[in-house]
Amino acid sequence: MDQPSVYGGQTREGALGMSGTHGLEGPVEPASPDPGYFDESYYETNGQLGDRPALRFYVRLVQRYGAAGPYFDFGCGTGHLLRRLSVLGPASGFEISEFSAARARETAPGCTVATSMDDIPDNSIRTLTAVHVVEHVDDATADRIIEVWRRALLPGGRLLVVTPDLGGRAHKMLGESWDGFSDPTHINLKSHGQWRRFFADRGLEVVVEGSDGMWNPPYADGARMWEGARFSVPAFVQFLAGRLLVPPGSGESSIFVLESR
Ligand SMILES: C[S@@+](CC[C@H](N)C(=O)[O-])C[C@H]1O[C@@H](n2cnc3c(N)ncnc32)[C@H](O)[C@@H]1O
Repeated sequence: MDQPSVYGGQTREGALGMSGTHGLEGPVEPASPDPGYFDESYYETNGQLGDRPALRFYVRLVQRYGAAGPYFDFGCGTGHLLRRLSVLGPASGFEISEFSAARARETAPGCTVATSMDDIPDNSIRTLTAVHVVEHVDDATADRIIEVWRRALLPGGRLLVVTPDLGGRAHKMLGESWDGFSDPTHINLKSHGQWRRFFADRGLEVVVEGSDGMWNPPYADGARMWEGARFSVPAFVQFLAGRLLVPPGSGESSIFVLESR
């Protein structure tokens, strides 16, 4: 019997019918993907076209560790986290993909979704989320994005950033078949420590950090249910608790709560 995933959202094998960047022969220049790539079939394939349980968990983290509204979802995809944030207070978003921006406006009616970073106002956001976005951009683009985050955040504003952990337990156990490699637009995979330094060097200090845990079995041979119990219990407990309990490096993705210095 398949065990329901706590987080949902990504498939393990060749999500886009292409090999991941790690599987290509020879050196690959990371380059931020064409915005048009993030279309309906992209989200259908990665399971993020609709709502998913993980987004409920991220909203609970925002409530616990964030700095209240106005809220902003950067790289808001199809808008389901944005819609959930809009229940808490004023919320808006940004998308590089026109398809995603249009879909997010439908999903979260009344929320502004910008498609140019110049349209994100200065000193306007208290809590910014960026869930599974930074792995899609090269370092130079991430630099520009962080500059925008810093100018848009109000003093004391906070960020919730989630991104696959290249040094995490899931990658260590699964190797080449790890989900982080299943999306060819994952051009910027780093370990938790590398992202931590990257953010710190750009003026974003860690307030709280953790991992989403081992929510996506199987991780070893054997019955899927047994593996679920063995590896996924901490992720499930954390999900129910709505707080970061699983330490960095012990799962699929890194979770950072950051504050602009
Ligand atoms: C894996 S999806 C995640 C979407 C959404 N945050 C979620 O968790 O459902 C990655 C998103 O990053 C967006 N993205 C890619 N490059 C971006 C950039 N340079 N700036 C903002 N968003 C970007 C894509 O359009 C896509 O919606």
